[in-house]
Amino acid sequence: MSQQTPGTATAHEPATALSATPSGQGDAFENLSHENRRFAPSEEFSANAVVTAEEYTEADADRPAFWATQARGLLSWSKDFTQTLDWSEPPFAKWFVGGEVNAAYNALDRHVEAGRGDRVAIYFEGEPGDTRTYTYAQLTEEVKKAANAFEALGVAKGDRVAVYLPMIPEAVITLLACARIGAIHSVVFGGFSADALRSRIDDAEAKLVVTADGTFRRGKPSALKPAVDEALVQPGHTVQNVIVVKRNGQDVAWTEGRDRWWADTVDAASTEHTAVGHDAEHPLFILYTSGTTGRPKGILHTTGGYLTQTAYTHKAVFDLHPETDVYWCTADVGWITGHSYVAYAPLINGATQVIYEGTPDSPHQGRWWEIVQKYKVSILYTAPTAIRTFMKWGKEIPAGYDLSSIRVLGSVGEPINPEAWMWYREVIGGNAGKNGEKKETPAPIVDTWWQTETGAQMIAPLPGVTAAKPGSAQVPLPGIAVDVVDELGESVPNGHGGFLVIREPWPAMLRGIWNDPERFKETYWSRFETMYFAGDGAKKDDDGDIWLLGRVDDVMNISGHRLSTAEIESALVSHPAVAEAAVVGAADETTGQAIVAFVILRGDAVDSGDATVQELRNHVGKEIGPIAKPKTILVVPELPKTRSGKIMRRLLKDVAEGREVGDASTLADNTVMTQIAQSLKK
Ligand code: PRX
Repeated sequence: MSQQTPGTATAHEPATALSATPSGQGDAFENLSHENRRFAPSEEFSANAVVTAEEYTEADADRPAFWATQARGLLSWSKDFTQTLDWSEPPFAKWFVGGEVNAAYNALDRHVEAGRGDRVAIYFEGEPGDTRTYTYAQLTEEVKKAANAFEALGVAKGDRVAVYLPMIPEAVITLLACARIGAIHSVVFGGFSADALRSRIDDAEAKLVVTADGTFRRGKPSALKPAVDEALVQPGHTVQNVIVVKRNGQDVAWTEGRDRWWADTVDAASTEHTAVGHDAEHPLFILYTSGTTGRPKGILHTTGGYLTQTAYTHKAVFDLHPETDVYWCTADVGWITGHSYVAYAPLINGATQVIYEGTPDSPHQGRWWEIVQKYKVSILYTAPTAIRTFMKWGKEIPAGYDLSSIRVLGSVGEPINPEAWMWYREVIGGNAGKNGEKKETPAPIVDTWWQTETGAQMIAPLPGVTAAKPGSAQVPLPGIAVDVVDELGESVPNGHGGFLVIREPWPAMLRGIWNDPERFKETYWSRFETMYFAGDGAKKDDDGDIWLLGRVDDVMNISGHRLSTAEIESALVSHPAVAEAAVVGAADETTGQAIVAFVILRGDAVDSGDATVQELRNHVGKEIGPIAKPKTILVVPELPKTRSGKIMRRLLKDVAEGREVGDASTLADNTVMTQIAQSLKK
C-alpha cells in the first residue's frame, strides 16, 4: 500500500547517479561514437569567414583579455570599464566592472548615428500574411516612444515589467524600451496559463504588464488578454497598468484606470528620448525556467556581459555579415533563444532579421520555406523538433521553394540526431533552387549548446573553421571553459562520458536566481565545488568533441521546451481526483521527449476512462499552460517505490517507452510493476 499522503507530490530518487543514463540515451551514444562523417567548410566559406581559428588561441592565452576585447569591439560604452572580471565572491561574478552601457542605444541609436538608419532591422510576417518592415531608424523611434510611455506610467529604473505577448514586433520594442530605461523585463511565454503568469508577476513584483488582445494560431484568433485579466482577479498583486497591443481584434474585457491600448499610450508618445548608460551589472531581465522542483526559477541576467557574449557568439557562430545577411531565428521571445538571438544580439550586430508570428503549417506546410524564399533568408536558426516535423511532412515540400540563399543553418534546444542533421544539411542546406537543383557544398550546420542560465551559446562549431560532425555540438567557443567530469569532478578522458560542467566564469552567465541567492548556489554550484553544473550528461569522443546526451536531472525537454517532472506532478495532485502522480519524459520521435504521467486516483474518485484523462490534461493546462499537458496519462493502482518511499522513475520510463522493465529488486513491493502492467492491459 502507498504510504504517501494523498494529494502530495512524491519524493524522487536522486537523479544524478552517473549510472542512470541521461534520458536513456546511452545506447544512442554507442551508435553516435561510430559516426565518422566529417564536413569541412568549403575553402570559399573559410576565406570569407568573420572569425578564424586564431580566436581560440587568443582566448586561450588570456580569457578575460579576450572578452575585454570583444566587449570594447562589439559595444559602445558610455563609460569604459576598469576591471574585466571580479570573481572575488564566487559564484557571484561581476563582469566589466565600472563600465556603463545602454542595451537599446547599442541595438538602435548608434546604427542610426553611423548612417545605417535605412537598413532593415525587422521584416515581420504575421500569420495571416500581413507584413511590416522596420528600418533601424523606425525601430529606434518606436522604442523611444515606448520608453517614454512606460516612464509616463511611472516605470523607473529597476522596476519590473511583465511581458505576455505573441511573436510580433511590439515584443522586441517592449524589451528594448525596458532595457533603455533600466526597467527589468520578465517575459512569460504566451503558452503559459493565467496561474503561471500570476506566480511570475508576484515573484518579480511587476508594476506593468504588456500584453495583446491575442494572436493567430492556425488561422484562428487565439486570446491572450483574458489570461492577464484572470491572473489579476485576486487582489494583492503589484500591477498598476496593463498595456494592450491590438493584434487580432478580438473583443476584450477592460478594467478602466488599469488597462490602456498600446495605440493610445505608445503611439501617442514623443519620439525624443535620450538613452543613458546603465552599470554593466545592472539587471537586464528575469526569465523563469523549470528546475527540478515544482517552483520555476527566475534566472537573472545583467547588461554588459550578456550583451558582449550574445553579440560575439551571434557574429562568430553564424558567420554574420550584417550588410548582406538576412537572419531568421524561429524561437519565440518567451524563451531565452528569443531573448538572446532575436531581441538583442541581431540588433546589437546591426543585422536584418525576419520575425514570424505563426505556426509552420499555417496556412500550408511550406510556410517557412515560402518565408525563406521571399526574404532570401541566409542564416536560419531553429530546433531539432521542427526539423523532425519537416522530415515527417516530406522533403518534397521544401524542394518546391528556392532556398539557395541559405548559407548557415543553426540548431538549438535539444540533441539533434544525426539523421535529422543530415536531412537538415541536404534538404534545406543543399537546396539550390526550386527546380530540384542541389548545391555543390551544402550550407554548414552549427549545433549550439547552451541554456537559459548560460545566456548565450557555449558549445558550437565555428562554420568557417570546424569540420562538422552530424549530431555533435563539438567544441567550446573561444573564451569558454567547458568540460565533462566524473562523479568526483575529475575530467574524463576522451571516449568517456559524465557530467557537463563549466570551469570558468563566462560573461553572459546568470548572476543568480531572483530573490533566492541560496537556491542559486545550491542548484548550480554545490554538486561540484568551484564548477558550474549544467544538469546535462555528455560524452567526449575520441577526438575530444562533445556530444550532449540530455538531462541527468528531473528536467524534461519537450520540443526544446524545458519542463520539470515535479512541476507537472504538483499540478496533477492539485486535482481533487488525484492521490499521487509520477511524471516521466519518454523518448518521442518528433518532440524529443513526451510527457507521460502515471496517476493513482483517490479512493472516492470515479475513473471514467478517457473523460478522466481529458479532464486531468485540461487541469494541467490550466495550472501551467497548454505546453505542459501530458501526451499520455495512465491511471495505475500503485507506483513503484523504494523502501524509503522514493519513486523509481527509471521503471516508469521503461513502461512509457514500451521496453521490458529493468531491475526492480529494490522495490518495497515487487508486485507493483506487474500490477501496473495488468492495469494497462485492461
Ligand atoms: O539539456 C540541454 C538542452 O536544453 C537545456 C536548456 O534548456 P533551456 O534553458 O530552455 O534553453 C534552451 C535554448 C538554449 C540544456 O540543459 N539543450 C540546449 N541546446 C542543446 C541542448 N541539448 C543538446 N544539444 C543542444 N544543442
